[in-house]
Amino acid sequence: MSSAHFTAADRNRVLIFDTTLRDGEQCPGATMTFEEKLEVADFLDAMGVDIIEAGFPIASEGDFEAVTAIARRVKNAVVAGLSRAAFKDIDRAGEAVKHARRPRIHTFISTSPVHMKYKLQKEPEAVLQLVIDQCARARNLVPDVEWSAEDATRTEADFLCRCVEAAIRAGATTINLPDTVGYATPEEYRAMFEMVINRVPDADKAIFSVHCHNDLGMAVANSLAGLAGGARQVECTINGIGERAGNAALEEIVMAIRTRNDVLPYATGIEATLLNRASRLVAAATNFPVQYNKAIVGRNAFAHESGIHQDGMLKHTQTYEIMTPESVGVSKTSLVMGKHSGRNAFRDKLKQLGYELGDNQLEDAFVRFKALADRKKVIYDEDIEALVDEGLASAQDRVKVVALTVIAGTMGPQSATLTLDIAGQHQTVQATGNGPVDATFNAIHKLIPHAAKLELYQVHAVTEGTDAQAEVSVRLEGPEGRLVTGRAADPDTLVASAKAYIGALNKLVARGDSRTHAQHGAA
Ligand code: KIV
Ligand code: ZN
Repeated sequence: MSSAHFTAADRNRVLIFDTTLRDGEQCPGATMTFEEKLEVADFLDAMGVDIIEAGFPIASEGDFEAVTAIARRVKNAVVAGLSRAAFKDIDRAGEAVKHARRPRIHTFISTSPVHMKYKLQKEPEAVLQLVIDQCARARNLVPDVEWSAEDATRTEADFLCRCVEAAIRAGATTINLPDTVGYATPEEYRAMFEMVINRVPDADKAIFSVHCHNDLGMAVANSLAGLAGGARQVECTINGIGERAGNAALEEIVMAIRTRNDVLPYATGIEATLLNRASRLVAAATNFPVQYNKAIVGRNAFAHESGIHQDGMLKHTQTYEIMTPESVGVSKTSLVMGKHSGRNAFRDKLKQLGYELGDNQLEDAFVRFKALADRKKVIYDEDIEALVDEGLASAQDRVKVVALTVIAGTMGPQSATLTLDIAGQHQTVQATGNGPVDATFNAIHKLIPHAAKLELYQVHAVTEGTDAQAEVSVRLEGPEGRLVTGRAADPDTLVASAKAYIGALNKLVARGDSRTHAQHGAA
């Protein structure tokens, strides 16, 4: 629902504006590849996010391409592109979002004394004129315009009201008042919205929005306080990723509203049972792990360890559980399947986990599930999710890992013997290295000479126990600057590493990165 669709009847409907792909991606180390951004955008759309901020189109060619592609494919949500006050920024954002069914330009400028004086080096009257110009320019390009007063919470009240009034008059349909530096307290943030909405003459012509950073750990509390002050749009990110300490976490906002609807009488359009998968997807795409005790989506969020708590839970779940794990998409029993489970049970389990696979995909996943069950006594939901996700990602791969033998231990150099299937032909090499992973990657290099640079190598255990699958992420930067990520899971960390590396190389080839392509026997 965009501002254009917002009616008085929806007075308590809160719009969820997700900025994982913009403010979230801005945080150090959370860069996503082009494909990952599309995958995240599709998921957010399916989950019921109202507005997806897809990126900052003027920031780079890559951002522009990603926003354009997201604008073309998103089915329901409004797609927003961010811009500063400069006309070339606004035009670039307009160019990128114009393909969307419901495009929005989000344009901002700083309004606090400290930002105007030191960052912009402009007098307040000049900034006010820019507010008018930027909103008018954006409104000429699209009917849905959001204006943000950066550092609103440290802006002088009279000036903030003048800017908001001017922005609405010049065509802004959403007014965002961010707590850019995470400085406000909930009482102050609520009072700011009440003050602006009461004082600005045409305030009812726009939707007011909260946007809070978590520097003092108050981003979610502040966002909810802003709703009490009259805002009806929340800007937030999955897992709370974002600049510095992050943004308000989408999953926390949604579940606070659902769980405490008695005192937070709002509604969102989010399908909460998808929150856990959204969290996993974003954590994997950004390679940013979710802290174990993170509210709603942390691994321990529904775990009860102490004897007293377990005893209470067994007697009545409400003793220690204020929401059910199922309500956010965590299934109650994580111990599920074994090697005797049949196709139907497997199909049911996939359905429960939210996957809808075609017949061939299902058959392929089932074969790989059986192979895993032969090697691992206990198959958890997380194992199945890793297996299916990997299968979906590698379905089109031209190069596949056939066999790997590694000699490791104290007597180096370690060595790896690797067989790859390259476009239907098996090829084997041996290589040594400084450790088993290095040896494995050197073997890959021998078989597929390439100029791609290893940007990231990350391993984590999918579940507990020494027979847990290792999930490995490998990010490569192609010679033409393209970033790609390969992911794979296997009980053997080295096999998972080889598969993840090959997965990333396959993506570079599929994208036609010329130098990888030319030297790739499969091309
Ligand atoms: O935190 C902030 O002020 C922002 C604006 C660009 C909306 O992210
Ligand atoms: Zn921000």
